[in-house]
Amino acid sequence: MSRELKNGIFFVGALDRERTLFDGLIPLPDGTSYNSYLVRGSEKIALVDTVEPDKTAVLLGNLEELGVDKIDYVISHHAEQDHSGAIPEILARYPQAQVVTNPKCQKLLMSLLEIDEDRIVTVADGDTLSLGDKTFRFFYTPWVHWPETMCSYLEEDKIAFTCDFFGSHLAGDTLFVSNEQQVQNDAKRYFAQIMMPFRMQIRKNLEKIKALEIDLIAPSHGPVYDKPQMIIDAYSDWVSDTVKNQVVVPYVSMHGSTQKLVDYFSQALAQRSVAVQAFNLVEADIGELAIALVDAATVVIGSPTVLTGPHPAAAQAAFLINLLRPKTKFLSIICSYGWAGKTVEQLKEMTARLQVEFLEPVLVLGRPKRQDLQALDRLADAIVQKHQNIGII
Ligand SMILES: Cc1cc2nc3c(=O)[nH]c(=O)nc-3n(C[C@H](O)[C@H](O)[C@H](O)COP(=O)(O)O)c2cc1C
Ligand SMILES: [Fe+2]
Ligand SMILES: [Fe+2]
Repeated sequence: MSRELKNGIFFVGALDRERTLFDGLIPLPDGTSYNSYLVRGSEKIALVDTVEPDKTAVLLGNLEELGVDKIDYVISHHAEQDHSGAIPEILARYPQAQVVTNPKCQKLLMSLLEIDEDRIVTVADGDTLSLGDKTFRFFYTPWVHWPETMCSYLEEDKIAFTCDFFGSHLAGDTLFVSNEQQVQNDAKRYFAQIMMPFRMQIRKNLEKIKALEIDLIAPSHGPVYDKPQMIIDAYSDWVSDTVKNQVVVPYVSMHGSTQKLVDYFSQALAQRSVAVQAFNLVEADIGELAIALVDAATVVIGSPTVLTGPHPAAAQAAFLINLLRPKTKFLSIICSYGWAGKTVEQLKEMTARLQVEFLEPVLVLGRPKRQDLQALDRLADAIVQKHQNIGII
C-alpha cells in the first residue's frame, strides 16, 4: 500500500490483524492499527505518535525503509501505550529526538514508560511547532480518551492528527478510507467503547475540529479520512442527545424461560414498529452490544435469578452499560426466578449512573404464563408511549 498521505508525510505505523480483544474487552473482528506518521519539513523531521510496544520493529523497519536517519521531534498526543509504547526505542535509536507533548502527558509518559524528563519539551494549548515549511498547531482535547489527550493540525497541509478521536478498529488494505460503511461501523465500535462515556467532552472537542479547514483527518487507529465530513457528521450524531426508536435487550437464560420472555417481548416490540436488537450474552460480541447502545432509546436487561441475584453474564452487561453511559433514556428489566431473589433491585443498583427513567419491570415465576406475556405487552406499550412522548415515533 502507498504510504504517502501528502508530499513529505508518510504512514509508518503498524497493522494488527491478530489481536482479538482491545483493552481486554472489545472484540476486534476487523483487527486494528496503530498509526504513526512521519512528517518531513524543510528543516526538521517529526514523528507523530508511535505504536503498541510489540509492533516496535514494524515502525523501526518502516523508518529504515524511508531512509530516516534523523528525527528531531516525537509528537506524543496521548500517553496510552498503543501510541506511546515505542517512544523509548525511538529515543534510543534517534539520540537527538525530543518528545513534544503537554505537561499532563509528560507526567504520564514519565511514569508509564520511564522516559527521562530532559528528553521531553512541553507545549501549551494553541502553541505551534515549526519544521521549516510545515507548522504544527496543538490543541488540547481532554478526555478524547484520557485527560491528557491532545490533537494537532498541520497548517500548510490542512491535516488534523487526531489520535484516538475518529479512530476505527480496522486493519485495512488501503491508506485512505475505501469502504465508508465498514469504516463507519468500525469507528462506531471504537466510539462506543472509548468515547461514549465522555460524550459531553467529546461534543466540546468536536467543535474545535469543526472550526478547522481540513483536507485529511489522520487518526491513530484505522484508515485516513480523505473525505473527513463523513466521520465528523457521524460523530455529531453519536454525541448528540438524539436517540432512535430502538430497544436493546441484553439477556441470558439457563433453562429457556428468560429466552421465551425475550422472544415474545422482541416480537411484541416489532409488531409495534419498534426496532429491537436482542443479544444473548453467552455468545454475543460485546462490541456489537456497545454499538447498539450508541443510538437506542431504551435498554431492557433480561436475566434469570441465580443465587438470589442476576446471572453473572447479565450483571457484567449491566456493569458495562453503567460504565459506558449511553444516552439511553429508558430502562427496564425482565426477570425469571424460582423462589426468591433481588435480581431487579441489584440490576437497578448496577445501572445507577445512567440518567434513565425506569419502566415497570416484568418478574416471572418459572416459565411464562398468559398473564406474564400480558405484562410484556404492557411493557412494550409503555415503551411505545415513551418513545412517542420524546418524538421519535
Ligand atoms: C444455579 C442456579 C441458581 C439459582 N438461584 C436462584 C435463586 O437464588 N433464587 C431464585 O428465585 N431462583 C433461583 N434459581 C432458579 C431460576 O432463577 C429459575 O429456574 C428461572 O426460571 C431460570 O430462568 P431461565 O430458564 O431463563 O434460566 C436458580 C437456578 C439455578 C440454575
Ligand atoms: Fe487511548
Ligand atoms: Fe488508541
